[in-house]
Amino acid sequence: MSNKHAIFEKNSIVLTVGILIVVAIGGIIELVPNFYLRSTIEKVEGMRPYTPLELAGRNIYIREGCYTCHSQMIRVLRDEVERYGHYSLAAESMYDHPFQWGSKRNGPDLARVGGKYSDDWHRDHLVDPRAVVPASVMPAYPWLARNELRTDLIRKDIATNRALGVPYTEEMVDQALADLRAQANPDSDGVNGLLERYPGANVRSFDGDPARLTEMDAVIAYLQMLGTLVDFSLYDDQADVNLR
Ligand code: HEC
Repeated sequence: MSNKHAIFEKNSIVLTVGILIVVAIGGIIELVPNFYLRSTIEKVEGMRPYTPLELAGRNIYIREGCYTCHSQMIRVLRDEVERYGHYSLAAESMYDHPFQWGSKRNGPDLARVGGKYSDDWHRDHLVDPRAVVPASVMPAYPWLARNELRTDLIRKDIATNRALGVPYTEEMVDQALADLRAQANPDSDGVNGLLERYPGANVRSFDGDPARLTEMDAVIAYLQMLGTLVDFSLYDDQADVNLR
């Protein structure tokens, strides 16, 4: 055995070829299973695609560059979990195109901001952050409350997400505009259909003015949903174990 090994040690070409073969075997063992797995993301109860209104809000979040200051990914570190809540699961961003994990935190992580504040707080904060958080350095976005929400592209947007693999049904595509309007108007006829298609969706006038459908409605609908879809009381024991 030791004699044979000398062939490799004395001849650099043979050694190089030997290394290549060994590394290739290791690489194949790591890579090949991924081609046969349908998904590396564990399915989690409660995850559903965004409602049309939430998706519209998410588009505005991207348009306004909120991701340049806010992450949406809670890491598996004790201080993060104590501040923001359960660490983020891969499944929680599986319907995001593109994902909003972010790479900078001038402001807090928003992955679980849903339900943390009232709609009024969000509206006041977005119109003038200093009105509610005096030391805030966040820019003001007063036009969100003024701008009518554009709805002409929502159907195409849902259809595009469907083409990318988000499990929207044909019915969801057809009803996109009706669902978008219904979510911001609790008195409308469309609410039952919306809740059938998107169980547990928040339905209310998010901007406090039921007469108008504004960009503010969409952004707040999106923020209030973030991190609320998965019921973590089912997973709490596990989280504790992982952190210790
Ligand atoms: C220039 C950086 C910056 C940008 C851009 C920015 N924010 Fe912020 N944001 C902050 C800072 C700093 C805070 C913490 C102080 C405060 O609450 O205002 C904050 C706080 C928040 C909070 C409260 C979070 C919490 O848990 O208390 C929300 C919600 C929020 N931002 C949403 C947004 C949205 C939506 C946008 C885009 C329309 C946005 N931010 C754009 C810096 C930013």
